[in-house]
Amino acid sequence: MNITILGIESSCDDTSAAVIENGYMLSNKIANQQVHKDFGGVVPELASRAHQQNIIPVVDAALKEAGKSLKDINAIAYTRGPGLMGALLVGSSFAKGLSLSLQVPLIDVNHLLAHILSVFLSRKETQVPVPAFPFLCLLVSGGHTQLVVMKDHLTMEIIGQTIDDAAGEAFDKCAKVMGLPYPGGPLIDRYAKQGNPERFAFSKAVIKDLDFSFSGLKTSFLYFLRDRLKEDPDFISGHTDDLCASIQKAIIDSLTRKLLQAAKKTGIKEIALAGGVSANSGLRDAVKQLGKKHQWNVYIPEIQYATDNAAMIAITGYYKFINHQFSSQHLTPLVRSDHF
Ligand code: KG4
Ligand code: ZN
Repeated sequence: MNITILGIESSCDDTSAAVIENGYMLSNKIANQQVHKDFGGVVPELASRAHQQNIIPVVDAALKEAGKSLKDINAIAYTRGPGLMGALLVGSSFAKGLSLSLQVPLIDVNHLLAHILSVFLSRKETQVPVPAFPFLCLLVSGGHTQLVVMKDHLTMEIIGQTIDDAAGEAFDKCAKVMGLPYPGGPLIDRYAKQGNPERFAFSKAVIKDLDFSFSGLKTSFLYFLRDRLKEDPDFISGHTDDLCASIQKAIIDSLTRKLLQAAKKTGIKEIALAGGVSANSGLRDAVKQLGKKHQWNVYIPEIQYATDNAAMIAITGYYKFINHQFSSQHLTPLVRSDHF
């Protein structure tokens, strides 16, 4: 029997729908929301309204590209959280309604687990090597930074996490103080490619065990810029590439130091990188280099699966489906990850 899952993602500012068949991707459509550009960050109420406008056309487009119709769908997987309450409500209400009308099971998905399972995503024609269990994942997104041991597809053990800002937040906040538009992470990545990462040094927090901290780095970057701007009002525009390369290096160093520590502590050599920040070219290279040095097998999702998308929700739905983990119509969205 074919198992065909429709996935729906609406946790933040991307409305996405995808179809997965027997664990392989058939389609993955994403509507990016442009309404937030002028506000320097995601405006929750605008995000909810845009999700409402986008969700039907996006689901339609995903089904069309997959060559499927609603009657082919065996289950509907949707993001239950973490995320913005209003945004989550749009996706979850839509998924619940569709599951009732089609009389197919509903599957709630933890967005963070879905990011990790993005390393299992591929089309049937372009299969990728996948990690063996247990594997260790450095999960880096806009709202979360965690080290997770995956015992099987659905069992996460968090062994370290940020005590303040997430890595994506550090990228975005540092970009903001340089006057770059939101989200700044991809722009820092772009400018950093032409810059010298050794040009400026910023103080990094020393945090115990496998936890991370990024708020001190952001403050040190802010004070550094404030002092330099006093001497030279054009300091930022004259040094954008080197500033981006240096702050990116500081963030990557903090992340990879803890990843190495976690790999040593657990003895695990199957290493994955996931979440929106795993799209960062410097971080991808750094983890691959570490992998070569320490004989790890490294798994990183293709860029299209690194940032928020519904294919990762659908593949998580697929693994929950084959493990008979369905959910009731009564579940409410969860804003925070520690409520899972
Ligand atoms: O996983 P994601 O798409 O959404 C959340 O679940 O938060 O991650 C978004 C984060 C943002 O902070 C964004 O700036 C960052 O990922 N990001 C990047 C890059 N692409 C996205 N950060 C650095 N370099 C990139 N290329
Ligand atoms: Zn995400």
